[in-house]
Amino acid sequence: LKILFVSSEVEEFSKTGGLADVAKSLPIELRNLGHEVKIITPFYRTINHREHAQHRFNLTLNTDYSRPDVQFQVQQLDLDGIPVLAIDNEHYFDRAGLYGEDNHAYQDNGERFAFFCLAALQTCEADDFTPDIIHCNDWHTGLIPYLLKTRYHDHYRFTHTKTVLTTHNACYQGIFDKSQLNLIPEVSSCMDERVLENYNYINYLKVGLTYSDKINTVSPNYASELLTTLGSHGMSNHFLSRIHDFEGILNGCDYNDWNPETDTYIPANFSADDLSGKAICKEALQKEVGLPVSDHPVFGMVCRLTDQKGFGLIIPMLDRLLKHNLQLVIVGSGDPAITGQLNAIMSHYPDKFKFIDIYSNKLSHMVEAGADFFMMPSIFEPCGLNQLYSLAYGTLPIVRGVGGLKDTVLDYDQDPEHANGFVFYDPNPNQLLNLLRRVLLLYVEHPEEMLRLKTQAMRSHFYWSDAAKHYAHLYYNALYKHQNW
Ligand code: GLC
Repeated sequence: LKILFVSSEVEEFSKTGGLADVAKSLPIELRNLGHEVKIITPFYRTINHREHAQHRFNLTLNTDYSRPDVQFQVQQLDLDGIPVLAIDNEHYFDRAGLYGEDNHAYQDNGERFAFFCLAALQTCEADDFTPDIIHCNDWHTGLIPYLLKTRYHDHYRFTHTKTVLTTHNACYQGIFDKSQLNLIPEVSSCMDERVLENYNYINYLKVGLTYSDKINTVSPNYASELLTTLGSHGMSNHFLSRIHDFEGILNGCDYNDWNPETDTYIPANFSADDLSGKAICKEALQKEVGLPVSDHPVFGMVCRLTDQKGFGLIIPMLDRLLKHNLQLVIVGSGDPAITGQLNAIMSHYPDKFKFIDIYSNKLSHMVEAGADFFMMPSIFEPCGLNQLYSLAYGTLPIVRGVGGLKDTVLDYDQDPEHANGFVFYDPNPNQLLNLLRRVLLLYVEHPEEMLRLKTQAMRSHFYWSDAAKHYAHLYYNALYKHQNW
């Protein structure tokens, strides 16, 4: 198949979250299965590969008559042999952030990603690529299936093209004032009630969910949550109305990037057969973040600082937790309210708790390798990738049983023999604290059991090649769906 993969971020070039990891690993695996894949993404200022970019096209985007046309360029980058066509427009993408700065979204994100969607289709046309499938990801790309049914309806290049939209996080929907989107008249004049909010606002995710041929999300359990009122961020009607075209496909773990046997970010490599290097990684992590080197269990956490990640469960019990003999390392940036509270608590426990307000790939690897446990008490979690990385490094995940966390982590109390981590359910700080106390007891009293669990975790695998086969199946279903035999 010829697959055009469109994503607002792609690891290696730009990243704010797990979407970027998927947009790197999945296209590579699809290519490995024999498909022809091209990626389209914005050419952000932060892309540090400028010197490798090869200029491909100068294009013009036709807007409505009241506005001047928009000129843009297309630069070609390379991802492991896969062409990455990057949409280069100074006004929209030459900025300090991807979606905003200082935790404030850019005011014109609606226009930026409307531009991106249309520019992506024009780029595909200019590139002479006739995709069987356009694989869209999240709200940023939601207008593409709609543009194919409006402006590009009957266009020879896309006559046979089918669309798939993957929802990586249904909480982010991209809701914008239609009247400010006259850059693309098809959008500003859209009257389809299914995708509008309060008449004047258009919901990009709903557009994508409505107009794509097939839709999916990133774990089976999140797919079932999206069909419920409570778990769907207000979107259950949309998912229910597409129930026959909707499924959950679990993300994979990229074992080229996340493998303790080969990882170059960590001071010592290790494997399930020989964990001795992990102790060296633990010591290095303690030194790196400025905690005393000790045998106390280290709990790690790496994430965007948002309510989604469960800080509302952690912060209220943190004082009580830190009375115990343990160390906690939290790495991530985001919501200033969360940053402030974590900093305040840190000042009381300098030898036990380090909060590091950055996003750092190297430190993420050091935490995954050096910690004993990895915490993900998420309120919701479409798939979660860090628990998969943790498992690979024998760092036992402690998770709330939601979304993809439930699909990938098996709780010790539920099934001691096969367990690879620890799970709690109630979104309640005391539940989390109770679980952590049980974990501490196990750590102190049963080191041999801890070792068994770690090696077992390291033997649970989630391959991208499996996920890619599922996606290929979904693509064929999209293609055959409308065919009259
Ligand atoms: C989003 C979700 C996360 C998922 C990732 C990749 O970041 O919040 O759960 O793993 O997308 O699909």
